[in-house]
Formats: sequence, structure tokens, C-alpha cells
Amino acid sequence: MTADADIVRELRAAGLAGEGDVVLEPLTGGVSCDVWKVETPSGPIVVKRPLPQLRVAAEWHAPVERGQSEVRWLRRARGVDARIAPEVLAELPTGHAFAMRFLPGSPVWKDELMAGRVDAAFAAAVGQRIAAVHAATAHSDDDRDDFPNDAMFRALRVDPFLLYVAERDAELAPVLRRFADDLSVRKIALVHGDVSPKNILVSADGPVFLDAECAVYGDPAFDLAFCATHLLLKSVWSGDARLTEAAAALVAAYREGVDWEDVDGLLLRAGELTAALLLARVEGKSPAPYLTDPEHQRIVRDQARALILATEPLDTLVTHWKRNLA
Ligand SMILES: Nc1ncnc2c1ncn2[C@@H]1O[C@H](COP(=O)(O)OP(=O)(O)OP(=O)(O)O)[C@@H](O)[C@H]1O
Ligand SMILES: [Mg+2]
Repeated sequence: MTADADIVRELRAAGLAGEGDVVLEPLTGGVSCDVWKVETPSGPIVVKRPLPQLRVAAEWHAPVERGQSEVRWLRRARGVDARIAPEVLAELPTGHAFAMRFLPGSPVWKDELMAGRVDAAFAAAVGQRIAAVHAATAHSDDDRDDFPNDAMFRALRVDPFLLYVAERDAELAPVLRRFADDLSVRKIALVHGDVSPKNILVSADGPVFLDAECAVYGDPAFDLAFCATHLLLKSVWSGDARLTEAAAALVAAYREGVDWEDVDGLLLRAGELTAALLLARVEGKSPAPYLTDPEHQRIVRDQARALILATEPLDTLVTHWKRNLA
């Protein structure tokens, strides 16, 4: 446990732990990182350290420098609105680990949704806050220079979600490759890169975003599409109409915040990306873990394939999305 001893020593050096026993309590999740909760004299904190290889079935390496991108995103997003992200307390010298404040009493949105607690107003707040970060960073040379993470975004997002499927599906390949090319060249705003309900805490102050390891200066439509995809997948899993309503509320609130470009063009790109991400979650390298029923997979696959070939703007896509094919 030398690595953990390093963490404790570095927390002490940063003034974040006393001289007494320091217990690193692992938190759930942790596909891509070690994440611990640590009680300190000034309250609970979270320490996060990226793993060189992700804990998923398919082999998947990613540079640990993504820990640094995450810290940058958390700080930048708090600069837009301090309620959006936890406060970063220190960057630790070893392995791009960092410490942030622990948010007590804030469940992960995914757990709320899976337990049937679906709140469209919360989904709207998610859309509003993502749009706020995009609006604040749109067409900014400084932000563009601070997040030159194209290689990481390609390795963790474009390759596994778009190109992996393209390699296995000759009919869809040309369209998916075009989506991938477009996504890679668009430099419009600061993208979080992993806006999944499992990375959003439900706090008394609204949604708090975690896990910004894939942050990149790129196409803001990606964040909207990534989040909408999760809600649409869960609507098929549960059959619950409130999940498609939540997706509609997310998109509507996001739309209100778009002041940096023509909103119709953005929603069209978000519709394309959502179609591709939906298919990736049944055919790709990172399948949705709860979508194990073959009938659920078929419902998603059939709709996603049709939507990739005949794309719709995201608001229309959400309205037409079927939770079952009966
Ligand atoms: N600041 C925080 N306050 C409260 N809980 C937190 C905080 N940071 C992380 N957590 C908890 O730890 C979990 C894992 O954190 P995070 O998503 O950042 O790590 P990860 O290794 O990238 O996880 P995964 O790969 O599963 O998404 C979160 O889902 C959340 O439950
Ligand atoms: Mg996470």
C-alpha cells in the first residue's frame, strides 16, 4: 500500500490531514480512477487519482494527465458558477491525484433515476448549467489554449464511441466517420466530455458535475447529446415516460442558454451525435451496463440505426423516441 502512503504524506504536506490516523475509504465507481473519501480536521474531502488503465472489459489505456484536465475543468466551471462543481483543494504531486471538497448528502443522479425518482426540473437545471459553461467559454482563445486535449478526447470518446462501431458496420461507417471528423474539427466551447447521470450529484443547490477527465475544447453539442443519450436509454430500460420528459426538459433548458451560435445547427449536430451514441451504448466498447435485456437492446439499436441514416434535430428525436416498439 505504498501508493496510499504517498497520498497520506502528500495530503499532510498540503495541510489537508492532521498527524493522526488518516483513513482512505474507497468510494463506489472507480472505473477509471481510485476515488477515496478522507475525513480531515476541516471536514470530509475526496481524493481522486487516475488509473493508467481503465477497469473495463475491453483493454483501454488512457494517459494519467487526464487528472490535470479534470482539475482545470472543475476550476473553470466554478468560475462560471460556483454551484456547478466541487471546490478543488489541492493537486498532489504523484500521479495527477487531486483533492476536492466532499459534498455530503448528495446522491448520484443515476441512482435517483434508477430508483424511479425522476424530476424534470432537475434535468432542466442540468441543461441550464451545461449551457452556462458552454456560453462562458464559447469562442475563447484562452479556454481553447487551456484544454488542448484532442488526443485524449479521441482516445476516450471518438474512437470507442464512434469509430469502433464504424469499423464493425459497413452500412453506417461513412456516416459515423463523418460525425467523428466533424466532432474532431469543431472548436467552439469547453466540453466536459462525460455528462452522464452517474457523474452528476443531486445537491441542495442543484446539479454538481464531477469527473471531467475527458474535458476538451470542442463541440458543445457533444455534452448535450451524451446526457440525453443516458436518459433515453434509461427510458427504454424502465419504460417510464418521465425519463423522455426529463430528456425534453434537458434539451429545452439547454436551448435557452445557447447564445453563441445558431441553435438549430447545434441541435442538428446534437441529434446526429445522440443517434451515434445510442448505438454505441449497445454495440460499442462501453455498453450501458443495465441494458442487458435483448429486447431493450433491439429497441435502442433499431431506432438508433434509423436515426443515424436519417438524422433529426435532438428536440425532434426526443419527441419521437419510443420506449417500446409495441
Ligand atoms: N466531491 C464529491 N462529493 C461527493 N461524492 C463524490 C465526490 N467526488 C466523487 N464522489 C463519489 O465518487 C464517485 C466516483 O467519482 P468520479 O465519478 O469522479 O470517479 P470515476 O473513477 O471517474 O468514476 P466512474 O469511472 O465510475 O465514473 C461518484 O460517483 C460519487 O459517488
Ligand atoms: Mg464517474
